[in-house]
Amino acid sequence: MCGIVGIVGRDAVADQMIEALRRLEYRGYDSAGIATLEGGRLERRRAQGKLANLQAKLVESPLAGSTGIGHTRWATHGRPNETNAHPHATARLAVVHNGIIENFRELKQELQADSVVFETETDTEVVAQLVSRNMDRGQKPVEAVAAALPRLRGAFALGFLFAGEDGLLIGARHGAPLAIGFGEGETYLGSDALALAPFTDALTYLEEGDWAILTRDGAEIRDAEGRVVERPRQRIATQAYRIDKGNHRHFMAKEIHEQPEVVGRTLAHYVDMAGGRVALPEALPFDFAKLSRLSITACGTAYYAGLVARYWFESLARLPVDIDVASETRYREAPLEADGLTLVISQSGETADTLASLRYARSQGQHTLSIVNVPTSTIARESSAMLPTLAGPEIGVASTKAFSCQLTVLLCLAIHAGRARGVLDPARERALIDALITVPGLMAEALTREGEIEGLAREVSKARDVLYLGRGTSYPMALEGALKLKEISYIHAEGYAAGELKHGPIALIDESVPVIVIAPHDGVFEKTVSNMQEVAARGGRIVLIGDAQGAAEHGLDTLATVTMPDLDPVVAPIVYAVPIQQLAYHTAVFMGKDVDQPRNLAKSVTVE
Ligand code: AGP
Repeated sequence: MCGIVGIVGRDAVADQMIEALRRLEYRGYDSAGIATLEGGRLERRRAQGKLANLQAKLVESPLAGSTGIGHTRWATHGRPNETNAHPHATARLAVVHNGIIENFRELKQELQADSVVFETETDTEVVAQLVSRNMDRGQKPVEAVAAALPRLRGAFALGFLFAGEDGLLIGARHGAPLAIGFGEGETYLGSDALALAPFTDALTYLEEGDWAILTRDGAEIRDAEGRVVERPRQRIATQAYRIDKGNHRHFMAKEIHEQPEVVGRTLAHYVDMAGGRVALPEALPFDFAKLSRLSITACGTAYYAGLVARYWFESLARLPVDIDVASETRYREAPLEADGLTLVISQSGETADTLASLRYARSQGQHTLSIVNVPTSTIARESSAMLPTLAGPEIGVASTKAFSCQLTVLLCLAIHAGRARGVLDPARERALIDALITVPGLMAEALTREGEIEGLAREVSKARDVLYLGRGTSYPMALEGALKLKEISYIHAEGYAAGELKHGPIALIDESVPVIVIAPHDGVFEKTVSNMQEVAARGGRIVLIGDAQGAAEHGLDTLATVTMPDLDPVVAPIVYAVPIQQLAYHTAVFMGKDVDQPRNLAKSVTVE
């Protein structure tokens, strides 16, 4: 993901910003740049490739200026070159950006209709031009930003520098983290504590929707409604800089909240946003058009991601899928055709059963493709091709952000397969990409339901047994929800295909058993309502995780309804991962469990 830094300093800030950007290199990037004010004039230096290239430019042509912004770019919209490198600027301002502005196309068309000429293919330049136009219309920097922010959709963080405004920076957070650091007569902006470590350990993390006006005296923080708010200031222990919990109590909470950003980053790695199509980072050593079947194998949460993907491969690519847990695959001696494809999914890339299954597939002459969160892992190295999830280090034992990133890669791969097999037309592909581009923003919105989920968790924590139900791609989500709950709260939970209820599990239903129903208003929603009626008729207490239309239609008394944003059902599993993770998390926290290190569990099961 991209990295942002900003400094309102006492002296020249260029070298300090390079130092901060160096600490953001771990996030991955393909270009970098800084901008400062010299005599009130905006000056930029940008370079493709590593920071050394930017430093070489600064040696040739140094930047003075004691107020500046800097950026390491992970290309999303537009090729990784100097033109597309941040900061992006107009005559009035410069801006750096982390994340995705999902409505950039419509804003760009509006600005072009207003005779604005764009230099780049990036969504970031749209932000620069939007704020600049507000200033052309007479608004001062703070008002111009305040007027522009509500028009931006997606998950992003922004930093602004204004011509003629030495001593002023503005930062904004909407789905991607942003911290403010406080020094002696200096104030800092950064994507995380690590970036600001060289200058201060006194930090405030902006909260969702916050934006801040930074001066040498400190920062004024405003919420999404423009109200001045106070946010906690904390001291970050130096040894925790590399993987700190931010302002979260547990790593699991932090990783749940990182999802809009890391799913956005993963999406950007696989999608040509401007072209509206999947663009895999490298050619695969096999042709989906020549496959008669796809085998998928994984464990635990990764297996449930594979179960969701089965629906996508079969519906979007018309490709039959065989899927099993790796501990069975490795011994089943399944007949696998030579030159066929086995897909393995693993966060750690070290799970013994999954690795053994990979090796079995290879022994049968299969192509092997792995989707992993650790590109240097054993599974990645032993696969014939690897597609990374860009979730970043996942510390909590319960997998959260890795799961949603796995789903993101899998949906992109299914779309790619559909195109390769000639069964997915460009219009349908663009519609699917348009739906995918909305996911980071929808996940950020889903995160705002946390308060009601926390209240529900108190009820769930009293249960001895919990059932999760779902149909279609919500069925694997029911399995994942049950796994999340049982592995960190130790409450017995089972996930079922909703249609299976009457084939036995309904005998479990009484008023002591909460039934969590995962049901966006999709093609099988009415069928799921029938199952909810069966549960209600037996005194079961229903929790619906659905959308406003479904909540209005079912007509049943529920223990609770968690209303997700409206969305294209094809991306529901990615967005609905948030409430099922939060329900498990808050239930376990309420019960005083060790959320990050649950009993008996390891983060990576490297033994049989
Ligand atoms: C997920 O919450 C669990 N901790 C566990 O099921 C995990 O998904 C499984 O062990 C597979 O791990 P992997 O993705 O690293 O292969």
